[in-house]
Amino acid sequence: MRAIRKVAVIGAGVMGAGIAAHIANAGVPVLLLDVSRDAAAAARQRLMTIEPPALMDEGAARLIETGGIDEDMARIAACDWIIEAIVEKPEVKRALYSRIAHHRAVGAAVSSNTSTIPLADLTRDAGAGFRRSFLITHFFNPPRYMRLLEIVTGPETDRDLVKDISRFADHHLGKSIVVCKDRPGFIANRLGCFWMQAAIATAFAQGVTVEEADAVLGKPFGIPKTGVFGLADLVGIDLLPHVNSSLAAALEADDLFHSVNVRLPMVDAMIAEGYTGRKGKGGFYRINRAEGKRKEAMDLATGAYHPVKPVALANPAGLMAEDSRLGRYARAVMVKTLGYAAGLLGDAADNVQSIDEAMRLGYNWTYGPFELIDRVGTATVRQLLAGEGLPVPAILKAPEFYRAGLVLAPSGGYVPVARPEGVLALADVKRTTAALLKNASASLWDVGDGVSCFELTTKMNTLDAAAFDLLTRSLDHVATHGRAMVIYSDAANFSAGVDLNWMMVPAKAGDWTAVEDLVRLGQVSLKRLKYAGVPVVAAVAGLALGGG
Ligand code: NAI
Repeated sequence: MRAIRKVAVIGAGVMGAGIAAHIANAGVPVLLLDVSRDAAAAARQRLMTIEPPALMDEGAARLIETGGIDEDMARIAACDWIIEAIVEKPEVKRALYSRIAHHRAVGAAVSSNTSTIPLADLTRDAGAGFRRSFLITHFFNPPRYMRLLEIVTGPETDRDLVKDISRFADHHLGKSIVVCKDRPGFIANRLGCFWMQAAIATAFAQGVTVEEADAVLGKPFGIPKTGVFGLADLVGIDLLPHVNSSLAAALEADDLFHSVNVRLPMVDAMIAEGYTGRKGKGGFYRINRAEGKRKEAMDLATGAYHPVKPVALANPAGLMAEDSRLGRYARAVMVKTLGYAAGLLGDAADNVQSIDEAMRLGYNWTYGPFELIDRVGTATVRQLLAGEGLPVPAILKAPEFYRAGLVLAPSGGYVPVARPEGVLALADVKRTTAALLKNASASLWDVGDGVSCFELTTKMNTLDAAAFDLLTRSLDHVATHGRAMVIYSDAANFSAGVDLNWMMVPAKAGDWTAVEDLVRLGQVSLKRLKYAGVPVVAAVAGLALGGG
């Protein structure tokens, strides 16, 4: 197994600097290079003030050395992994690779952070030794916070090298790896850009407002409430045409992406005038500071801003079936997107799970596209696609993609949902075993090796009397029957803290003795946790119980 003791990152822009910071967060020294020493040093300086913080502490900052590619390229010889994060231009990247090939240590891994360019294109001119050491490691922005790492390998890439980089990215950088096929945009951006472009273009075409589009394409589909226009503001509206044209140039002429990739004069004008989103003068939304920090949305027809108008959806769950303006919008965007996702099987990825995982982790969707198809029903999606005059991928003939811990395999049969090595999912434990202890607010599960998992099941995982009661009983149970306890749940929130409604009932009645009793119950229970005779680990973030 190759140890990753030092890493070089070339290109100290948004991504390169962020990746370097996160590697330093893992305690590994990094050499960050850019076109000049000054450019790299300035990028390091920016890392100190960037929001959200890229660096965990000052110690991490001290692990980042900087340099220029002309003066310091030879220093990459001391690195076990060289990450390229320069401009998204294949010819510029290829020219850099020939310089890297000249200086790297024998066997050192080289990867590109490209978001759209296929590996075969990047390594077209490279020698066999370089191709053996080369892969794509596609981090998402911001690199410290986004869990997804897409990995693409070529036919010649050394399998052991891929394993070592994957292990390092998983164990040291906290990334979840999705293996993608060598296709433009890989998985998340191929589908994510399609969805965004379809959503934005259709909103313009159907006269749907920015607020309506985000209300429709957010919560009803388990998509973050930024929806599509809020997301465009967040990532930078100026990035969209770049990624879209790079994707369009790389995809075959009959790819459906071209049908949604239309030029929108209003968006071009926004970019030209500096309305690039949160980093610019504003975007589809803006905060009007002259009006007491009022949030405003843009009128897609006129470009004028107005105070954000709340959108109430009568039946969010039934939106796709609704014969209304917003129902038609939801169908036009989501059916097309789900159909495109189904078409990516065997193209961008070999399996259903990878596509779902990429969208969950890369775009923060609660459900991947195949989970969404299951929720709508494959027969309905088939019918809706045909109704929109869109191709119906044959895979949609399957009755469902997931059933009770199983997933549809490329062979057509159902196989257990695969988990990465060393990862245990609570959902799997819950499907196959009964709870050790359970009440209305929490459960205790046996996750193996004498370890129990305490799971809150209340709304927002809040703590109430029953939760405290089960917590105390769980600690008793683990102290006599087990070795350790993990506090974890698959819910989006670890815990919103004490259930204030539970406190409000006696408080409203003026029963302060009861309020004091509740406070005492909480304190006593949490103190038991602090002084438990067994190790207790709070798994505050993450979808699964990581192992190693
Ligand atoms: P950026 O424009 O912020 O930074 C690029 C940096 O590379 C600049 O500092 C530039 O001076 C430097 N550079 C250009 N040519 C160079 C060369 N020959 N040698 C050394 N340095 C050179 O770009 P960004 O956004 O950081 O993107 C970098 C790569 O990451 C691209 O391939 C992009 O597609 C990819 N990517 C970008 C994401 C994003 O959200 N911005 C997300 C995921 C991937």
